[in-house]
Amino acid sequence: TTLYVPRDAAAVSVGADRVAEAIRREAAARGAEVRIVRNGSRGLLWLEPLVEVVTAQGRIAYAPVTPADVAALFDAGWLHGDAHALRLGDITRHPYFAGQERLTFARVGVIDPVDPDDYAAHGGWKGLQRALDMSPAEIVQAVTDSGLRGRGGAAFPAGIKWKTVLEAPVSRSTTPDAAAQGTSDSRFPTPDSRPSKYIVCNADEGDSGTFSDRMLMEGDPFCLIEGMAIAGVAVGATQGYIYLRSEYPHAWRVLNEAIARAYAAGWLGADIGGSGRRFDLEVRLGAGAYICGEETSLLESLEGKRGMIRFKPPLPAIAGLFGRPTVINNVISLASVPFILAEGGAAYRDYGVGRSRGTLPLQLAGNIRHGGLVEKAFGLTLRELLYDYGGGSASGRPIRAVQVGGPLGAYLPESRFDTPIDYEAFTAIGAMLGHGGIVVFDDSVDMREQARFAMEFCAIESCGKCTPCRIGSTRGVEVIDRIAAAPDPAAQQVLLRDLCDTLLHGSLCALGGLTPYPVLSALDHFPEDFEPRKTREAAA
Ligand code: NAI
Ligand code: SF4
Repeated sequence: TTLYVPRDAAAVSVGADRVAEAIRREAAARGAEVRIVRNGSRGLLWLEPLVEVVTAQGRIAYAPVTPADVAALFDAGWLHGDAHALRLGDITRHPYFAGQERLTFARVGVIDPVDPDDYAAHGGWKGLQRALDMSPAEIVQAVTDSGLRGRGGAAFPAGIKWKTVLEAPVSRSTTPDAAAQGTSDSRFPTPDSRPSKYIVCNADEGDSGTFSDRMLMEGDPFCLIEGMAIAGVAVGATQGYIYLRSEYPHAWRVLNEAIARAYAAGWLGADIGGSGRRFDLEVRLGAGAYICGEETSLLESLEGKRGMIRFKPPLPAIAGLFGRPTVINNVISLASVPFILAEGGAAYRDYGVGRSRGTLPLQLAGNIRHGGLVEKAFGLTLRELLYDYGGGSASGRPIRAVQVGGPLGAYLPESRFDTPIDYEAFTAIGAMLGHGGIVVFDDSVDMREQARFAMEFCAIESCGKCTPCRIGSTRGVEVIDRIAAAPDPAAQQVLLRDLCDTLLHGSLCALGGLTPYPVLSALDHFPEDFEPRKTREAAA
């Protein structure tokens, strides 16, 4: 009998490894033959560890399982899918799952993440095979036709980015910056011997409340590998790097295992898919700086330097890693590509609304009853997501605010919950979808504290290159503290808005440029929380 026990970090953090071990021991003691596959997570995180048993009735889920439940589950006959208090049946019919549109996450939680044959049996490598029979321009056109926009947060059209890299001339003289890297040490090739173009995957998923990149890498790494190989074939790049945050040790192991197996199976290396074309791939670890999720800092870090923002232009698409034209995309952007190539751009474009095409893997976190991953076509509302999927707050108290798009995203009050999940609709209400992370707060939240946190976060994570962010964020914390204590909160609020205006328009990158979003949205939507402490206490 085959059992699936997730190896996803979220499942492991609540005991999945111990459950797998308990199953192994119990099966051995009973002389039962079991095969345990460590799959990804289905994304119903409140039910982890979620174990699925392959029976004559199909895959039957039992959850959440603790090591102490295992003997009773064997007694109840779970190897045949028999009844038990933890039996959930076919998990794909669970209301949380049934309404989802899983295109990018189609295989996550289903397959053995490091078995290339299992990947192939579930439609894997089909997109790359198609791409190998197409011209670079045709591949780029398919991505353009799909309407895919950058899922890291900025929503820039992926097809346009790829086209820019495809058409970018390769200067063998390289930029002065890259030339400065040249060295006689044979371990470090001189710039001219380097690949002419690169594919870089931004896997520095730093936003609070986001985990879709991690889940994808841990649950279906070949999908990312295939997407990167397709990008390589499309723009003529022979080397790819996955820049992974060091906080993801499980993803690091899965990715490296999957890359080794992809090489062994001929999907990476000198002759990908028997096409005679080369694509090499490596994982590089970051060192824990939020700013290295910004693309130019990431490139600096990948080149072995301190993660500092580069001036743009030139765009990385023109002069990126080691001065070469570089496609740099988020994990989910690249992992969306195999479906697009396998099924055609139009099949992806069929999903969504307006200019937001396809699906977005949304991540529900914070004070929410049913936290997890919901991949849906653009267009559902925030309210549907929070209540139909999330089941309301975990505390049972009313939801007062949600922060969408990470620590630099706006805080939205209940009056905005009917906004559809759509890039333009969010822009229209002064918010952003970002990477699709949603953090929920109930009515015990203090929005002045949250605004302060945003400024403090910016102060801690600032790379220090420009003044509004480096100094403004520290002054911002002080001003917010004065709002709580001072006799003249109105004057302090004017000062805070003025400072936000400077950060918004004067910062060099999105960290300083977006910090005003959480601060101003807290001020605009929750002004009562910015009353001086004494007034608030009296009102209470
Ligand atoms: P951006 O709008 O400057 O650029 C977006 C992308 O498009 C970049 O890769 C840029 O190089 C490329 N691009 C722009 N014009 C181009 C052209 N003409 N041709 C080819 N490529 C072009 O935005 P930025 O600063 O890269 O990202 C900001 C976003 O990052 C925010 O909106 C935020 O949502 C997101 N973010 C995501 C985090 C995460 O953990 N995923 C963390 C923090 C921020
Ligand atoms: Fe660095 Fe902040 Fe300026 Fe960005 S906004 S370049 S993080 S100092």
